[in-house]
Amino acid sequence: MPTERIFHPRLRERLMSADEAAALIQPGETVAMSGFTGSGYPKAVPQALARRIEQVKAAGTPFQVRVLTGASTAPELDGALAKVDGMALRLPFQSDPEARTRINHGRMEYIDMHLSHVAQQTWFGFFGEIDTAVVEVTAIREDGTLVPSTSVGNNKTWLDLARKVILEVNDWQPEGIDGMHDVYYGTARPPHRKPIPLVNPDDRIGERYLRCDPDKVVAVVRTNAPDRNSPFAPIDEASRRIAGYLVEFLQHEIALGRLPGNLLPLQSGVGNIPNAVLAGLADSGLRGLNAYTEVIQDGMLDLLRSGVLASASCTGFALSPAASEEFKRNVEFYRERIIMRTQEISNHPELVRRLGCIAMNGMIEADLYGNVNSTHVMGSRIQNGIGGSGDFARNGFLSVFLSPSTAKHGTISALVPMVSHVDHTEHDVSVIVTEQGLADLRGLSPKQRARTLLAHCVHPDYRDALQDYFDRACRDSFGKHTPHLLQEALSWHQRWLDTGDMRVG
Ligand code: COA
Repeated sequence: MPTERIFHPRLRERLMSADEAAALIQPGETVAMSGFTGSGYPKAVPQALARRIEQVKAAGTPFQVRVLTGASTAPELDGALAKVDGMALRLPFQSDPEARTRINHGRMEYIDMHLSHVAQQTWFGFFGEIDTAVVEVTAIREDGTLVPSTSVGNNKTWLDLARKVILEVNDWQPEGIDGMHDVYYGTARPPHRKPIPLVNPDDRIGERYLRCDPDKVVAVVRTNAPDRNSPFAPIDEASRRIAGYLVEFLQHEIALGRLPGNLLPLQSGVGNIPNAVLAGLADSGLRGLNAYTEVIQDGMLDLLRSGVLASASCTGFALSPAASEEFKRNVEFYRERIIMRTQEISNHPELVRRLGCIAMNGMIEADLYGNVNSTHVMGSRIQNGIGGSGDFARNGFLSVFLSPSTAKHGTISALVPMVSHVDHTEHDVSVIVTEQGLADLRGLSPKQRARTLLAHCVHPDYRDALQDYFDRACRDSFGKHTPHLLQEALSWHQRWLDTGDMRVG
């Protein structure tokens, strides 16, 4: 078995197979794993654990674990463990079809939470003890410190708090990533907290490596497997239009002197529309931008290469296979421009507020008053989770939500009288953009927001019905500040439940 990349002599002796390592995890444990949006997650031990769970259950003994991560992972972790019904509880975020199905069938508990909350709430003891940490790393150094992988997520917290540690050393990850990370060890529990000394989005305030007590390491597993992310779909017309409206708006804000010429630090969610926005920025003529975000996706690598983006701070990657290869080929170039932090820092509300981030995220639906639902289809079926969107939307300089104006091939309007679930309240949403246009909700009262959304964002197929609802609500509502006809507002969703293809999937 190769040992280069493992320079600590005692930890080299703990090399074993993934199956042997998984045998060290017991039923009922809380297992904290690395991984953030399909990067830096353990590739072998979760699959070995799934096989073990299956065998133990076949012999008649129940076997489930509680699984904490940074954010979503990939089929080798969430998919494998969900398929064997191996997770009693999952937090803080998932986007896996197998896990989603089980959560929506009521067979798996899920805590969908702000990503900035996870580390501190684990320190506060809200999730009990962490039994095992399973963390992918790029290398183990002679002094036992760890070169992180393509995500940092909550790994610092997992390594600090877990009773025992399993490390996966992944040869696939580029060794040149060494030096890209900035692990901040200055966080503390209240009342002992100090200000975080980060002033610019590209400041380095921490250490290059993760600390790890070698005595806690019970297994080291060697892997050679890629991070798994899907290619982005080609940018479609709706995404191009959404991006166009937003870039025009940002340029207008610069012209008015409300934003500096190189904007403020950008946060961008993951997906095809955010990717289209990044492509729009590439053609905008703007230069010297910075990103303070949680995830770097293909579009940001392009912006870094072209010099539009000067630097990017993140906690993980969501790259297509082609972009992953590009990143690995030119890792020295990116190491000069990308800083990877723990997610408690990448998503820290105080830093997001102080830096003045421009938050750009997707949504399921928004209502006439600007409340946004990012997570639930028809009020009860989880799609992914709130992820980091709330960390940025609530605290950013601007909070932008982007979505096509309809879903399910035009059969559902993304603008509704009242959202079926609220993730971001009307107080936290400044701008909504659809392919129909952009609604600037800043400085508007509820009824003014409704009129603006009706004028700019609603699809023409739904405009009359929503206008009619709003007019009647203004006339008949119990209160006239945020007019609603309560039963009718919710019946919008019921109508789609009754007629649409809304099977739990
Ligand atoms: N009603 C019913 N279903 C809807 C809907 C609506 N108003 N809007 C979207 N959907 C469905 C889509 O049809 C699709 O279903 P399918 O998977 O069965 O095809 C699914 O929700 C995802 O929608 P899609 O159009 O593919 O959206 P997306 O990839 O742009 O993601 C969110 C949109 C909201 C799901 C995504 O942005 C998200 O998970 N956000 C929360 C987390 C977040 O913002 N993180 C940001 C920090 S990285």
